[in-house]
Amino acid sequence: MPTVSRSFATKLGSFGTACLRLLPAETAHNLGIKLLASPMFSYLPRPNLSPLFENMTSHVPGVGSLPHPIGLAAGFDKHCLAPHGFSRLGLSFLEVGTVTPRPQEGNPKPRMFRYPEQKAIINRMGFNSHGSERVRERLQELDWDHNQTPLGVNIGKNKSTTELAAIEDFNHGLQTFRGMAKYYVVNISSPNTAGLRDLANDEFLKQLAKDNQDIREKIWFKLDPDMSRVKLQSLIETICDAGFQGVILSNTHKVSWPEAGGQSGHPLMSLSNRSLEWAYQVHQGQLPMIASGGILSGGDILQKIVRGACAVQIYSALVYRGPWVVAKLLEELKAEMDAQGIQFLSDAIGTHYQA
Ligand SMILES: Cc1cc2nc3c(=O)[nH]c(=O)nc-3n(C[C@H](O)[C@H](O)[C@H](O)COP(=O)(O)O)c2cc1C
Repeated sequence: MPTVSRSFATKLGSFGTACLRLLPAETAHNLGIKLLASPMFSYLPRPNLSPLFENMTSHVPGVGSLPHPIGLAAGFDKHCLAPHGFSRLGLSFLEVGTVTPRPQEGNPKPRMFRYPEQKAIINRMGFNSHGSERVRERLQELDWDHNQTPLGVNIGKNKSTTELAAIEDFNHGLQTFRGMAKYYVVNISSPNTAGLRDLANDEFLKQLAKDNQDIREKIWFKLDPDMSRVKLQSLIETICDAGFQGVILSNTHKVSWPEAGGQSGHPLMSLSNRSLEWAYQVHQGQLPMIASGGILSGGDILQKIVRGACAVQIYSALVYRGPWVVAKLLEELKAEMDAQGIQFLSDAIGTHYQA
């Protein structure tokens, strides 16, 4: 596979990002996905990022040993349209979805808003989804090589499904992608589906464990950053006791202004860090955590790692820093590690608590 210089790829990426920024947020997003999915993109030479991976190896239990810790957060490729494209951007693991059992439109547009000055995004997409059957077919056709880039599926419930029947939607999702995903994420944290966050309770988790005994160690829970400390810590205990694999902290912060929806990006960083800290107090490093929320620089990644995350996921960084952000983040992370005298990234996991 031919390679190009990173500076050329970065310039091309910056130009493309600047053009996309002129369009409304969702239009730009969809166009970006189309470009990443197009055969043209797969023929573009990829920049050689491997020199940046040195000492960045990240082991994520049940997901794999990754060359570096930066993965794709859910919601970017909801319908699994461009996983090859995202893999070519250098992300070390991918999460597609949220996928709902039946196809649904989501909320009326506009429903995605950018705030460049704050490096923030607010969305109220409401789980627009092609539905689990179509996404399953796509994955089957791809015959995805999880050894090269592990891919997880993030699962949700349909809007029309009542809270009582929600367990069936999740069981259905877990059943549908059986054998096809490297890991599953139970999303009980998006703020734009009424009643979804109410499923973050012990009873629901225990039922899910009972119904999915054989794949518990492949299941992660994505939790919201808005719940109280007592509630989060009780959930973490239940997740540990039930033998699930881990948690993703966190989803978006629920806001009602300047738009109603979930807030991502820089303003989410401290809330999301607080969730990692609260969770760590309970499991003391025994429950794997993937961090999501507010990562825009390499320094932000290190903040997540020292708080106990074994890997991170990005969304807003791709929007604000362009498609080749992984290289930029790894360079910054390396500089930050050098400044702090950290040789191997894995040595930094949880060190925030050792003082
Ligand atoms: C437009 C948009 C759609 C999203 N959709 C989903 C989703 O379907 N499922 C999910 O678990 N998270 C979803 N998220 C949340 C992201 O996965 C991520 O947790 C959040 O944006 C915080 O990361 P960031 O600060 O790097 O953007 C979405 C975020 C955005 C901005």
